[in-house]
Amino acid sequence: MPTLDEICTSILTQKTTSIVILTGAGISTSAGIPDFRTPVVGLYDKLTPLQLPYPEAIFHISYFRHTPEPFYAIARARHPRNLKPTLSHAFLALLAKKGVLRFVFTQNIDGLEIDAGVPGDKVLNCHGSWKTQRCFKCKTVYADDLMKDAIGRGCVPYCPVEGCGGVVKPDVVFFGESLPAAFGEMESEVVGEADLMIVMGTSLKVAPVSGVPRKVGMGVPRILVNNDVVGDFGARGDDDVCLIGGCDEGVREIVRKLGWGEELEEVWREAVERKERVLEEEGWDDDDGPGLDECIARAAEAMKLRMGVSDGHRRMLEGHLAEKMAGMMER
Ligand code: OAD
Repeated sequence: MPTLDEICTSILTQKTTSIVILTGAGISTSAGIPDFRTPVVGLYDKLTPLQLPYPEAIFHISYFRHTPEPFYAIARARHPRNLKPTLSHAFLALLAKKGVLRFVFTQNIDGLEIDAGVPGDKVLNCHGSWKTQRCFKCKTVYADDLMKDAIGRGCVPYCPVEGCGGVVKPDVVFFGESLPAAFGEMESEVVGEADLMIVMGTSLKVAPVSGVPRKVGMGVPRILVNNDVVGDFGARGDDDVCLIGGCDEGVREIVRKLGWGEELEEVWREAVERKERVLEEEGWDDDDGPGLDECIARAAEAMKLRMGVSDGHRRMLEGHLAEKMAGMMER
């Protein structure tokens, strides 16, 4: 049975050289951005005052195309503009530096893996990224400074192309949209080559990315670093090592066994300093403006006023929508 010690020895003796990683929102919570599904503190529970048909509707393309206001109301508080990489992101960069990182599949859209120093050809943002945006209707690219302004003000940006006026959408993969073709390609290419799989900070609730850990060959060790046991972890008996707790803490435990603790701190410090310089150059200030809770409260109030319909009528409309969207949760 591979214990964590044995896995680490295998890395140090270069028997393990092709580590495939899958990450989710849990590796960015210590950067200050809540995850989605943790009860109470996760985004989806916090959205209750918006009375959405169901929480994920905020990221569902069928809902967004006619009701983009909730998305843009919280965009400022969710935008990764001034986030800095966490220790867990630095760990990915350290594995790359050591030459043992094969590939990172991330469901996150914050770009912190790259900020931490993971080479671009070793990361796939399976759910897209915030870095660019375009009109949902005519697909014309929308300028970054206009988007920055819209997000800052919590307003919905519309396409300036004459006669279009479609809603602008960040190049994030919404529910109901396809993942980038590179997902399937990279999955076929790298998962079979993995000699260690590490899954960090994800509930493994969203297909198809949630299926990646199951595709790793039998007999290949898998490490889970997460607040709770997720997916089929544990089902492979001795091949699964579960470090239950915070991602950064789990990472510290792994690097302590590898003897890479100091180096990790250095990689992390450099990454944070690099990001701070970028933020300064780009003119993002540290004034976060209203936090997520306040954005949600304001949006709930605004939506109530704008809709101007009775609660009963609204519930009927929402019931209808929820029905239409049932079964569409998989991308
Ligand atoms: P979830 O919120 O579904 O899951 C986060 C997981 O990380 C949970 O199991 C938490 O317990 C765990 N967790 C949170 N903070 C942690 C920490 N500091 N240390 C360790 N574990 C921690 O987030 P994802 O799995 O990433 O798609 O969600 C997948 C997709 O669903 C997202 O990409 C997003 C969402 O809807 C979009 O809609 C854009």
